[in-house]
Amino acid sequence: MRRTVIAGNWKMYKTIEESIELINGLKPLTSNLKPNVDVIVCPPFTSLAIASSLLKDSSIKLGAQNMSEHDEGAYTGEVSWKMLKSAGCEYVILGHSERRQYFGETNELINLKAKKGLANGLKPIICVGEKLEEREAGVTEQIVSAQIKGVLSGISSDDMKKVIIAYEPVWAIGTGKTATPLQAQQVHMHIRKLVGQLYSWNVAEGLVIQYGGSVKPDNAAELLAQDDIDGALVGGACLKADSFSSIIGSAPAR
Ligand code: 13P
Repeated sequence: MRRTVIAGNWKMYKTIEESIELINGLKPLTSNLKPNVDVIVCPPFTSLAIASSLLKDSSIKLGAQNMSEHDEGAYTGEVSWKMLKSAGCEYVILGHSERRQYFGETNELINLKAKKGLANGLKPIICVGEKLEEREAGVTEQIVSAQIKGVLSGISSDDMKKVIIAYEPVWAIGTGKTATPLQAQQVHMHIRKLVGQLYSWNVAEGLVIQYGGSVKPDNAAELLAQDDIDGALVGGACLKADSFSSIIGSAPAR
């Protein structure tokens, strides 16, 4: 049975002091996780090291929000896999729609980053999702298929065990508009079938597919109850300990 993975993407929020406060608030609220649930927090780079040391005595795992496709070198402003690992990261979010939209990230680049992370012991949370005009044009599945094929190109079946896919419809991010549980479930099922075709049913069945886009305490349970929704990638609602822990608490005990 797949685990349920709830991740918080802090985006460009929280200074070091604010990060300490949030993590210290979260720890007591998440000390009793259901046995099938994993929790990941993804603070900004500047807070990773302190977050890692604060989380040592907890079951919350640590992820970053981006990573360079290079090992090291003259790449001003970039952060490598080695830096993330030494800061205590186990996961890295790749290809978030904000990276695609504002920083020009393509499926090809995201694929390079994913392969670099996997080769070096980081588990990628790879984001896909359609824009509003694409949904309205009825091409959601084609768009998501092209993204999945692009970002997973050359990744082995064995490495797929470490990959998480996050389906985040762009029109639902930060807008308060959530995909209905049925809309999300349909795309999740499509992704799982596609991964089954690209790899095997075994790989597809084991793949954790998170939903992201205005996940809140009051809609999380219904989303997480869907057969193919194995977790959530939470933005705004992860910035407060009580709302994030309430989302974590709505994960079904499977
Ligand atoms: P919101 O939960 O704020 O809509 O953000 C979702 C997201 O982009 C998580 O990566």
